[in-house]
Amino acid sequence: MATNRTFAMLKPDSVEKGYVGAILDKINATGFRIVALKMTHLTMADAKEFYDIHKERPFFEELVKYMTRGPIIAVILEKENAVEDFRALIGATNPVDAADGTIRKLFAASVSENAVHGSDSDENAAIESTFHFSGREMF
Ligand code: RTP
Ligand code: MG
Repeated sequence: MATNRTFAMLKPDSVEKGYVGAILDKINATGFRIVALKMTHLTMADAKEFYDIHKERPFFEELVKYMTRGPIIAVILEKENAVEDFRALIGATNPVDAADGTIRKLFAASVSENAVHGSDSDENAAIESTFHFSGREMF
């Protein structure tokens, strides 16, 4: 069943480069409502658990290092068709392949440092949201 919610992270490179405001602006302008938002710093254990699906991939170690090197912004977003529409807004994993106007086209440096995360299914959106937020932090 569609939840109309997705989970997103503005990754450490977005925070480091001062892109948080511009990315949140784009998210708002696209019609997403912010349900929850916080700045937090993933531990190694957090990052490994979050990206557990990629643990056998050659880029896993690099990914964990990147995601833990500085704070991130975690958000829950609401909109009709949220998961799919947010994936469309962020664009392809590799910014070289991302469509014009997408967040990754505008703000990502490379396939490894690609500015944002977006959940890939309603099920994962729910799991990832409760990984980061308690019920009293969702509005
Ligand atoms: P995400 O989960 O962060 O939203 O990204 P995604 O679905 O677009 O891509 P995914 O395949 O799930 O990969 C997760 C993250 O791992 C890094 N990555 N690096 N060096 C590489 O070839 C490579 N491939 C992926 C990226 O940070 C990617 O977003
Ligand atoms: Mg993914």
